[in-house]
Amino acid sequence: MIALIALQSSAKMGAKTTGDLPRMSSITVRKLDERLKKRLRVRAAKHGRSMEDEVRAILRGATGDGDQDDLGIAVHAPEVRPAGAGPASPADTPPVATTIRSARILLIIGGGIAAYKSLDLVRRLQDRGARLRCILTRAAHHFVTPLAVGALCGERAYTDLFDPRSELDVSHIRLARDTDLIVVAPATADLIARMAGGRADDLAAAVLLATDKPILIAPAMNPHMWAAKATQRNLARLVADGVRLVGPNAGEMAERGEAGTGRMAEPLEIAAAVEAIMRRPGPLTGKRVLVTSGPTAEPIDPVRVIANRSSGKQGHAIAAAAAAAGADVVLVSGPVNLPDPPCLAVVRVETAQQMLAAVEKTLPVDVAVFAAAVADWRPRHASQSKIKKHGRAPTLELVENPDILSTIAHRKSGRPRLVIGFAAETDHVVANAQAKLAKKGCDWILANDVSPETGIMGGDANTIHVVTADGVESWPPQSKNDVARALIERIAAAFQETKR
Ligand code: CTP
Repeated sequence: MIALIALQSSAKMGAKTTGDLPRMSSITVRKLDERLKKRLRVRAAKHGRSMEDEVRAILRGATGDGDQDDLGIAVHAPEVRPAGAGPASPADTPPVATTIRSARILLIIGGGIAAYKSLDLVRRLQDRGARLRCILTRAAHHFVTPLAVGALCGERAYTDLFDPRSELDVSHIRLARDTDLIVVAPATADLIARMAGGRADDLAAAVLLATDKPILIAPAMNPHMWAAKATQRNLARLVADGVRLVGPNAGEMAERGEAGTGRMAEPLEIAAAVEAIMRRPGPLTGKRVLVTSGPTAEPIDPVRVIANRSSGKQGHAIAAAAAAAGADVVLVSGPVNLPDPPCLAVVRVETAQQMLAAVEKTLPVDVAVFAAAVADWRPRHASQSKIKKHGRAPTLELVENPDILSTIAHRKSGRPRLVIGFAAETDHVVANAQAKLAKKGCDWILANDVSPETGIMGGDANTIHVVTADGVESWPPQSKNDVARALIERIAAAFQETKR
């Protein structure tokens, strides 16, 4: 209704989005019928905003694809605390969206007084499990130092497009692509103008131009600069290009005696907007999933281990597919040569005993998938110093490792609702898998033939037989990523089934 009127009129004027907000909101509020006006008043009071500011917030939200609010209007912007309300209490902290965990966020800090708040933003995002990289524009150096930002991020801050160290180390194209979201905070009028113009005249602008990832900007500037037609025109273009906005808020400016709209959104609000963007509901939203992956390495001495040829590709693909389906995923991985999949928590272990401890610590979960190739035995005694050659080969006494899958599947309390194992076989694949299903007490076994000629161990493809109490389902040969997706679909279907 409100949003509809405003958006239609702005479309007529050739600006689809926030470009004409200050003008439109004053017209719209006056023209509202009494019933809507009353609801708007209540909503504005709830958020501590004026009715005009409330309309602006609704219109900003209407450009995104957020939730429906109580006026039936799509709202994306997080709740805005009243200006000057002081720091938010911990109780204000929004619930942590599962998918912000381990998300890679590139924060671009523009040159405005609000840059000091970006240091707090780094912390807020890290508290939610995000991994941060930062770029500082040249102007930002006047407000925060690359040293302070780098120290907070745990990685040096990037500043220069033509820095040979950056280009050899992490090129601007990689900065633009190896991320899940780019946040520009503060987004100054100048940076917004350069973004809208498609400029690439410094590292920040070049990265923003080169990226194919979502962009969230938190504008911050003097109220007159914010209201300027040029700024609003640039913003309208950016929003039409799919860039999302959080803030600015109304309130006191840094300059004495200046007040109005232009304050950067508070770090908590920006963090909430990031969570809203990263939260991708899927068939496993609300489910907690544990995946084990990779080999284990059992020490013989400080330099030697008993290990196996597992690459971890299948387990990692399953964890990534579960996270992409909206699940809250913990991946417990032995030593692998793979990057961490995005949007999930990774616990790294070496030995079977460590893996069991990490798995038990992760419970309760709804689903547990045991894809790790756990070493069945470990040396009874690992030597504290390197075993030297003395002419005779040493004799290793081995002891059996705990069976992690069987331990969890046989738990009396806290057993995951769905326990899924793998069977790595070289002979009688299905028959051996059926025996393992019964012995280990799991619900499904994914059996595969790991004979060297199949190339499955370490390769990118897999051929799976799903063995359950109901029978055997044989899947065609496919990539490990496709196997992962098919398994996640089957898991989601099983939960749907039990709901009915
Ligand atoms: N597994 C486990 N802990 C172990 C051994 C295996 O959790 N100590 C799990 C694996 O992650 C897999 C399943 O059990 O999901 C079957 O593993 P597999 O290596 O095929 O069989 P094993 O139990 O080791 O039996 P065998 O070596 O005799 O085939």
